[in-house]
Amino acid sequence: MELSALEKILIDKIAEEGPLSIADFMEQALVHPEHGYYMRRDPFGVDGDFITAPEISQMFGELLGLWTAINWQAMGQPETFNLVELGPGRGTLMADMLRAAGIIAGFSEAVRVHLVEASPVLREMQVESLKPFDLVQPVQWHDQFQQVPGGPLIVIANEFFDALPINQYFRTGDYWCPRVVDAKPDGDGLCFVLLPPHDTPDLPPGLKDSPNDKVVEVCPAALELVEAISGRIATDGGAALIVDYGHSEGGSGETLQAIRKHTYHNVLDNPGEADITAHVDFAALGQRVFASGARAHGAVPQGRFLQLLGIAERAKALAASATEEQVEDLGSALKRLVDTDEMGELFKVMAITRLDFPVPPGFE
Ligand SMILES: C[S@@+](CC[C@H](N)C(=O)[O-])C[C@H]1O[C@@H](n2cnc3c(N)ncnc32)[C@H](O)[C@@H]1O
Repeated sequence: MELSALEKILIDKIAEEGPLSIADFMEQALVHPEHGYYMRRDPFGVDGDFITAPEISQMFGELLGLWTAINWQAMGQPETFNLVELGPGRGTLMADMLRAAGIIAGFSEAVRVHLVEASPVLREMQVESLKPFDLVQPVQWHDQFQQVPGGPLIVIANEFFDALPINQYFRTGDYWCPRVVDAKPDGDGLCFVLLPPHDTPDLPPGLKDSPNDKVVEVCPAALELVEAISGRIATDGGAALIVDYGHSEGGSGETLQAIRKHTYHNVLDNPGEADITAHVDFAALGQRVFASGARAHGAVPQGRFLQLLGIAERAKALAASATEEQVEDLGSALKRLVDTDEMGELFKVMAITRLDFPVPPGFE
């Protein structure tokens, strides 16, 4: 089998330094500066590898835009605030949000847009998507959330946390064996191996009692990020919304997966050529939010969240002036976003606010 450029680099690295943690492998596969999956391509849509909620329908971004505007009002309408999107893809979600929230008096004057994006190709697409908006301050891009300047903020992340690198541990009795990535003995690719157990890993509380002979997943990058976001919200005021596929109870076993051309792909084959994700452990994120002095709401299923925000009414309003074909598209988009056997149940939504902030829309 032909090895990808990144596979060769990783095999050489393993020969020099020993096996890679799954987190190191995942990070290289997704954001290696030259060969990382996200760094060189537009992965979205029918001709790409997968499709996300904002690319399915404008309704998703419009409702998140109104959610943002309502929370800005609940924050006391600060004169300026940072609207931060993590992993903005093509910029579609931010464009739909700004268009919808722009109808609220004072919002467009107050908003300062900050995008956290690793991919140069996607940054260029985001520039194009946001060109039509006459913003008071030009959009600012950052490599990391921590670089966003201080002040009140609203953070939005759709399908970002699932791209953050995870580690896996296999429990055997009182011991935890790290699962790592090694080179195959014949040099023809990569394989998973278990290392002998050593120190007990730093596991979120919900995972410490996992059953024997089971794999658990931990995402230190997600926990650190949610801590940073919660700390900022607690001190500067604001809210965050995290939408991703994941579980509300910890310990759901192995969820690491790769997708290429809308079908499952072996995680270790052709790194850099397929999207790699893991389900988000919302229970672990929620615990870290509370430990950081903020409040977590949810996670609730995406379908319920969007219904409470009025997606059915929005679909009806759009259908009133649509062609027959557009009405059909609206119906299938609605179904895809909210039905329990589509994205409605598997995708979850969690909000973060200050302790004394009202319950945000969609979480009653
Ligand atoms: C699955 S896409 C989601 C895009 C968009 N939010 C949407 O819903 O269409 C993941 C996004 O996160 C970005 N990304 C992934 N890992 C990143 C990292 N470590 N730092 C910054 N951006 C990252 C990708 O380039 C991409 O824009």
